Amino acid sequence: MPQMRLDKLLTNLHCGSRKEVGALIRAGRVEVDRVPCRDPAAKVDPNVIAVSLDGTMLQYREQQYYMLNKPAGVITANRDERHDTVLDLFPAELRRGLFAIGRLDKDTEGLLVVTNDGALSHAVMSPGRHVSKVYVATVEGELAADAEERFRTGVTLKDGTECLPARLEIVTPGDPCTVRVTLREGKYHQVKRMIAACGGFVASLRRVQIGGLLLDESLAPGAFREMTGEEVALLRGGEAQM
Ligand code: URA
Repeated sequence: MPQMRLDKLLTNLHCGSRKEVGALIRAGRVEVDRVPCRDPAAKVDPNVIAVSLDGTMLQYREQQYYMLNKPAGVITANRDERHDTVLDLFPAELRRGLFAIGRLDKDTEGLLVVTNDGALSHAVMSPGRHVSKVYVATVEGELAADAEERFRTGVTLKDGTECLPARLEIVTPGDPCTVRVTLREGKYHQVKRMIAACGGFVASLRRVQIGGLLLDESLAPGAFREMTGEEVALLRGGEAQM
C-alpha cells in the first residue's frame, strides 16, 4: 500500500501550503485515526486511515476495518433467516458491503475482522500464505501425554486428515485444562478436531490473534471498534510466531 507524508496528504486535501499544514500538525490540531499526530513527516497510508482537522473529518477511509469480539451464539455469515449473524451486531448504516474475514463456529468467541476489503480478505485467507491464528481453549478430558509433540509434527485427525505442524501449549494443567493453540491453516472445526484426536474435548474456544493482530481484550463479547491503520498493517503483513 502506498504510504505518504501526513503534511503531503493534508496539502492534497487543500488544507494549506506545506508550511501551513506543518504548523497545524505541530499544533496538535490534526488527528490520525482519532489520535493527535504532531509529526508532519509521519508516514500514513491514505487508504486505511481517517484524518481530521480540528475535529472535522477530512478524509474517510475508502476501506472499513472493524475488530469484533465475536460472542458465542451468532453465526459467521452475512445474512441468515434463522440465526443471528455477526453482521446483525453492526448498525444497519454501517453494514453495507461488510463481511467477515474467515469463519468462527457458532459457539466460538473472539477475534473476527469485519471489512469491505476483499483483497485483504483474500490475502489473509489464502491457503498458501499460512497466516497464523491463535486460540485459547478450555479442554475437558485427558489429553495424550505426547499431545504437544503431535501438534508439533502434525496431528492426524480421526478421519485420517493430516494437519500441518501446529503448536499446543498447556497454559493451566488439569481437567479441565486451558491450552493455547497456534495454527497455520483453517480446516473445518480444526481446533476441536485436533484436540479430539489427542483425547480431549473443547468445552470453550476463543480466538485471540490473527497474524500479528491481537484481540483488544477491552472489547466485551459482541462489541466492535474500528481498527487503527497500524492494526490493518499488522493483519496485512504480520505473522505471529509459532
Ligand atoms: N477451530 C474450531 O474448531 N472452531 C473454530 O471456530 C475455529 C477454529
